Amino acid sequence: MSRDSFGSRFGALVAMAGSAVGLGNLWRFPYLVGENGGAAFIIVYIILSFLICLPIFISEFVIGRRSQKNAYAAFRDLSGGSGWRWVGLFTIIVPLVVLSYYSVIGGWSIDYLLKSCTFSFTGASGVNTMFTDLVTSTWAPLLAHTGFLLVTTLIVVVGIKDGIEKFSKVMMPLLFFIVIGIAIYSLTLEGAQKGIEYLFNPDFSKINAKACAAALGQAFFSLSLGFGTIMTYASYVDKKENIMFQSTATAVSDLMFAMIAGVAIMPAVFAFGLNPQSGPGLVFETLPLVFGQMPAGSLVAILFFLALLVAALTSSISMLEVAVAYLVEEKKFSRIAACIVLFIICWVIGAVCSLSFGPLSHIEIDGGNLFDFFDNLSSNILMTLGSLLTVLFVGWRLKKTDVYDEFTNGGTLSRNAKLFGVLWFLIRFVCPLAIIAIFVSGLIG
Ligand code: PFF
Repeated sequence: MSRDSFGSRFGALVAMAGSAVGLGNLWRFPYLVGENGGAAFIIVYIILSFLICLPIFISEFVIGRRSQKNAYAAFRDLSGGSGWRWVGLFTIIVPLVVLSYYSVIGGWSIDYLLKSCTFSFTGASGVNTMFTDLVTSTWAPLLAHTGFLLVTTLIVVVGIKDGIEKFSKVMMPLLFFIVIGIAIYSLTLEGAQKGIEYLFNPDFSKINAKACAAALGQAFFSLSLGFGTIMTYASYVDKKENIMFQSTATAVSDLMFAMIAGVAIMPAVFAFGLNPQSGPGLVFETLPLVFGQMPAGSLVAILFFLALLVAALTSSISMLEVAVAYLVEEKKFSRIAACIVLFIICWVIGAVCSLSFGPLSHIEIDGGNLFDFFDNLSSNILMTLGSLLTVLFVGWRLKKTDVYDEFTNGGTLSRNAKLFGVLWFLIRFVCPLAIIAIFVSGLIG
């Protein structure tokens, strides 16, 4: 049977952008900006995104499209069957862990979408404790997590062209329109100006090693790097496509989306005198208070949580596909069987994460609950490790001529050919050294 693939350039692009744009942009980026000094953090984030993350993105693209295989087989075949295949396996397992707890947050968005549809944020009583009430309870978040994971699985089971691509093609434009609409509305609120100043006036005194490490970790997370995701999607991309163009377009849309999310959220938070530094609770605790007070707040709330849900889904499907491709191609599972097995695994890990706010909250690792543990471990440590190994693989294990060949489509893309020298230098030296330096100083700092 021939391998499924993306049907069009636009389809491949929105699927990749869909993987990148997710909870990371709407939920994590704004609160990290809040915690780490506003615009100064954004500037560091932009520099790291293009100097370090874009070359890693391109490296993953090269691995995937060169091999046209799942991540495990890609590492195995491109390295002539060496131990690098274990790195491939690593990049398949990690997204499953992330998917598990990501699905819990996806579930919260479903719950909040339903709450907005029943106008629960108006009439402030109860809004303050709404988030704690939800996450500490047993059944509601479990049910929502199940629902989210089920939808993710159903989209993936249909396949690349008819499932993932079709879904992303409809949902990504919708997502952009909703978030731009909310941003414009947010800017019209009285007092919005302060939110904009907060986002765009840099205060470099806040930039230390920890903030840089946070920016790098966020850039990895946001661009879905260090996992087999981009690699796997790239393996379905046509050989005629331009890797440089597709990668840059994804990175730019991801960045733009994060900024627009910031503009949608911060001015509104300031307009109603709330605290922008409320950490992970910004979206689920602070924003409902904003929606409760703003004119037409219920409608904005519905649109916002719909956007959050859609963004989460276009990312979660990309995480699941990594392992599905592996089981189908290497272990000869049918697509349905692979999806069912992975659904069960992710459901169990996710359920544990979900319960770790309530019935299992007594289990603590390193001062946090299991959810925090999985989040920290995968997004700070494992993604960094995965990204480091990926650039080392491309820069030091693959042949330069093969990377050149893939990046320039056999020498036919003259602009890429001109850029290759710089790219090769970044991949071989700058990226690995910068990743190690920032990671280590973040640990010490
Ligand atoms: N990039 C996604 C986000 O910003 O929410 C998260 C993500 C998706 C991480 C896919 C990793 C991944 F493989």
